[in-house]
Amino acid sequence: MKILFLGDVVGISGRSMVLSNLLSKIKNEKIDFVVINGENAADAGMGITEEVCKDLFNCGVDVITTGNHVWDQKETMSHIEKENRLLRPKNLFEPSPGRGFGIFTAKNGMNIGVLNLMGNVFMKKCEDAFEAAEKFIKKYELKVDYDFLLVDFHAETTSEKVAMGHIFDGKATLVVGTHTHIPTNDARVLKGGTAYQTDAGMCGDYDSVIGMNKDNSINKFLKKKSTKHFAATGDASLCGVIVECDIETGLAKKVENFIYGGELKNSQ
Ligand code: FE2
Repeated sequence: MKILFLGDVVGISGRSMVLSNLLSKIKNEKIDFVVINGENAADAGMGITEEVCKDLFNCGVDVITTGNHVWDQKETMSHIEKENRLLRPKNLFEPSPGRGFGIFTAKNGMNIGVLNLMGNVFMKKCEDAFEAAEKFIKKYELKVDYDFLLVDFHAETTSEKVAMGHIFDGKATLVVGTHTHIPTNDARVLKGGTAYQTDAGMCGDYDSVIGMNKDNSINKFLKKKSTKHFAATGDASLCGVIVECDIETGLAKKVENFIYGGELKNSQ
């Protein structure tokens, strides 16, 4: 049983790389379930649209997670109510449209829980991520409520992400960070059997500033005149993790950093 998690897809270039490569990767790597963070997948790199969701589902994505940019496209507030494969962070203030957790069926018939949480440091205000995690752990159990559990923790700081990995150790198949758009080199199976990586990295053009046009972003930092923020358009790299799962325990046997194509291709 193999699960692929892909980090934040950014703009047209990130999306087209996913659309043209994912189906062959699923076949070649014998992937049973795919989760992708899609909160930057719309053309400009902000939010996600119904059409973009459809394209991602059609090319093999099973579930789309999000984060602080979830509502950047107004249509998402109504679309998320109809599309249960699109998640928003579970710890958004209630009432919020949509859901932050779901149980889905993989191609091989196994049940996969997917939980989306958002960090509290340098992020939009939301409920405490760690209280939300504790509540979740009290309510749900691996191998009772689902065969496998994936947690996308959309957060800015590495300390929050590592702590969340340890909290779910032995209780989730994978805890992976998103949002910072740079893949970290710490993929490992934690002591209790949970696969972990601090940030999956983005699926986007790395000749950029975290997926956005680099000249424009640099001008902003230099406080010079800049145009509206827009996504970089060069060749994208696909970044994420592949987890080999233990069907008996629901935990991870092995986790590997996955990087393909674009600027980062040489690090494969
Ligand atoms: Fe984000």
